[in-house]
Amino acid sequence: MPSNQKRPDRHALILAAGKGTRMNSERAKVLHPVCGKPLIQHVLERLENLDIRTTVLVLGHHAEKVEEAVSGFGVQIVLQREQLGTGHAIMSARAQLEKLSGSLLVLYGDMPLIPSQELEHLFQIREQEDVDQVLLTAILDTPFGYGRILRNERGEAIDIVEEQEATSEQKLIKEVNTGLNCFKIESLFASLSQLSRNNSATEYYLTDLLCIHRSTGKKVAVLESRSPEDLLGVNTREELAVVEGKMRNEIARRWMLEGVTMLDPSSVYIDPTVVIGRDTVLYPGVILEGQTVIGPDCTIRGFCHLSDATIKKGVVIDHCSVVRSSKVGAGSHVGPFAHLRANTVVAGSCRIGNFVELKNTRFGDSSKAAHLSYLGDTDVGRGVNIGAGTITCNYDGQKKHKTVIEDRAFIGSGTQLVAPVSIQEEAYIAAGSSITEDVPPQSLGIARSRQINKPGWGKGRRKRNDPE
Ligand code: UD1
Ligand code: CA
Repeated sequence: MPSNQKRPDRHALILAAGKGTRMNSERAKVLHPVCGKPLIQHVLERLENLDIRTTVLVLGHHAEKVEEAVSGFGVQIVLQREQLGTGHAIMSARAQLEKLSGSLLVLYGDMPLIPSQELEHLFQIREQEDVDQVLLTAILDTPFGYGRILRNERGEAIDIVEEQEATSEQKLIKEVNTGLNCFKIESLFASLSQLSRNNSATEYYLTDLLCIHRSTGKKVAVLESRSPEDLLGVNTREELAVVEGKMRNEIARRWMLEGVTMLDPSSVYIDPTVVIGRDTVLYPGVILEGQTVIGPDCTIRGFCHLSDATIKKGVVIDHCSVVRSSKVGAGSHVGPFAHLRANTVVAGSCRIGNFVELKNTRFGDSSKAAHLSYLGDTDVGRGVNIGAGTITCNYDGQKKHKTVIEDRAFIGSGTQLVAPVSIQEEAYIAAGSSITEDVPPQSLGIARSRQINKPGWGKGRRKRNDPE
């Protein structure tokens, strides 16, 4: 902001003390995740670019857990011990806010889709026209459950009536209270003491402020939302799923604009934290979570689940593979049915085939483990071939031990590598070996009993069993 321009004096108050009874949950409502992140974090992120100086969060139920979830956001926490309504929630933050001046945005912690532009607009109207209250309304096809806006014959909004107090005629009104308001701080705290609990819920209703402000000659502006569907509050699990679906569509749309192909975007789940490169193709049922970063020109086939994965350019992750906290280098092919567990690094041009599990393993350039293997706590060099059915025996029941397989080693199929053990450069292991000792460079390690063939044994057995 240029120095000659005065920084607006903006503050925000988020109400989130309610019990969220209709969620039917042991967990605070605002901690239920949407696209992998608690509701409350989405709301706080929407406030991030609005130049807000003070953010106060009113908490009640499960306050400590919510406080933990917002610890990185620099918000002040206020406890509302007894939940006596939305108006009472503001009263409980009086000490933190009363001394401030300027604008106070009041919003709810359960509206994760709120567009920042809409909030910016509320602040601007408050500031430019120096009004005492700006109220945001929305026209909804199904207004059930919301407070309805009553307008007089001149079309001015004069009051808000809650669902449980509305007459059947008032219930037909489609203009509702979104709950979003921007107040001039001095006016808000002057009017707050006039709220009463004189209603069917015996609560202090924030909504009564409209009427109070009008009757005391304060300036009120009422604004109709341009995106009412984004003001959905979450009260039930059903609404949680609706909000999740909307946010998911929005994320998918954004990545398609960035050049990502999705065969069926409605079936793809991408956390907001994920990054995807151009010309990457996502098949149906793909789930991308956490800090996953996928490079360009990758193909992620159906039903793969990647979380905190780093996938470099041109990688194929084939059907039904799982990658967690692991990296895959350029041009590698993983899966189908592969499982890369925590702290695995697969280098470039590798092949990890079906039913291969890697855990805490470094896998060098151009190495292959094409079928049915488990490598745990293993260091694999470059150009190594791991035969089908190779298993590292890395756990003795108490401790994990390390296996080292150096460059260009060849591990025959069905080998058990009993760790700690090291297979040195260009060594060979005969198929079916149980390797318990290190194998020197370019040597052949064989560790299996010699085969004995007994000629005619089968004929004799058949005779014994069949006396004719
Ligand atoms: C409220 C509005 C209603 C509006 C609707 C929009 C009132 C009286 N009614 O109704 O007009 O259409 O929101 O979603 O304001 N909270 C507290 N402390 C309390 C009570 C509530 O912090 O004592 C918080 C809740 O955690 C929630 C928010 O305030 O985040 C709204 O409360 P809720 O009980 O959901 O209000 P509604 O009945 O939906
Ligand atoms: Ca609500």
